Amino acid sequence: MKAYRASLLWFAPASEGPARALFEQDGLLVVGPGPKGLQVVQALGPYREVAAAYPGVAVEHFPGRIIAPGFVDLHVHYPQTNVIGSPADGLLPWLENYTFPEEKRFAAPDYCAQAATFFIAELLRNGVTTALTFATSHLQSVDALFAQAQARRMRLITGLCLMDRNAPADLLNQPSAPGRADATEHSLVETEALIQRWHGRDRLGYAITPRFAPTSTPAQLRGAGELAAQYPDVWIQSHVAENQHEIAWARALFPQSRSYLATYDDCGLMRQRAIYAHCIHFDDDDRALMRATGAAAAVCPTSNLFLGSGFFDYVGADRAGFAYGLASDVGGGTSFSPFHTMLGAYYVGREGQTKPGVSLAPRQLWWQHTAGAAQALGLDGSAGRPAVGNLLPGCEADFVVLNPQATPLLARKTALASNLDELLFSLIVLGDDRLVERTVISQAL
Ligand code: GUN
Ligand code: ZN
Repeated sequence: MKAYRASLLWFAPASEGPARALFEQDGLLVVGPGPKGLQVVQALGPYREVAAAYPGVAVEHFPGRIIAPGFVDLHVHYPQTNVIGSPADGLLPWLENYTFPEEKRFAAPDYCAQAATFFIAELLRNGVTTALTFATSHLQSVDALFAQAQARRMRLITGLCLMDRNAPADLLNQPSAPGRADATEHSLVETEALIQRWHGRDRLGYAITPRFAPTSTPAQLRGAGELAAQYPDVWIQSHVAENQHEIAWARALFPQSRSYLATYDDCGLMRQRAIYAHCIHFDDDDRALMRATGAAAAVCPTSNLFLGSGFFDYVGADRAGFAYGLASDVGGGTSFSPFHTMLGAYYVGREGQTKPGVSLAPRQLWWQHTAGAAQALGLDGSAGRPAVGNLLPGCEADFVVLNPQATPLLARKTALASNLDELLFSLIVLGDDRLVERTVISQAL
């Protein structure tokens, strides 16, 4: 067992209402062995009380620092690290001119390995300890990312990108042998093989990953839905309702579905553990469908602002009561930093789809990127599953050590905070990777 002394930030159990943040100025976090050789939280609270209950446990002291849950990135693309900051008129030209050319480079295993190494290091450096991640349509890109996450013992979920039409030929899923016409079927065979190879191994999980409806045939989407029914424990990830041109395209390709979102439902791709990125241009029936199926939205504010896609409707989502959490969406998104993403979400809430918009509380923003995002993934400890994104007893001990004095301005501003909201808002507005002094991953000590 080991203990860490610092200020502590965490969240009350979901049963006590969402986003109830807890803070202990002089706290102690005790971690010790849990299942699968992982370290889990044993206790936390005021230093004096907890230290008395755990005599003899070695204590590492971080004076003036804040220990907080590791961040959960609900949607990010590892092959798009180099695509950050590529301007375009909107989503579709951005995909064609920057994203697809870069993703083609992942045909080379060496390229995948170095990109995966950089990507995982960058997530951890920014305090992200759990991520739901896109790879490319190349098998080797998935293997490389899983291998790197496994080496760093990170909780990571990814999958083979399914695309069997409407993309450059060398990015489409390939047939089982040259000249054969079985690319769609083969993409599903590869998906199942990858599930068996990686899902549930150490801290890794598999996500069935149709890129978005326009780049899949109905047969591929239906096949993906059949696999999702066969493997209920596996995640599903895709994109929906991000951009008006994308929506018109999806509607033209799947005219029999009630809406773009309903296309996924019609193919068996909406259920718990299904995470849809963006979810901006919804009507109330779409929102009700999210709620009824238990699917969740990955809100991608910096991406939506950068590509001019629109503003996630927080008011509409809460009215319908569907789950959501925050995501960087690198490389449409502009930063790996959860602080930049939380600030982007604040701007998006302010702007809103319906005026006057909302002023999201900092504890609410923080929850959306930690315990709330974990809940959207089903990684909140319910039904005997692992819990991340929080520091309650039993949670996997993934956490960050934040230094509120990391820059002169942060030091000046945080010293003025007279309550928790003021402190958190200062960190969100002024913070970036410099704030993250250390990222600790739950592993055998
Ligand atoms: N829709 C389909 N593919 C993508 C992608 O790579 N990024 C974003 N932002 N939207 C998408
Ligand atoms: Zn995306």
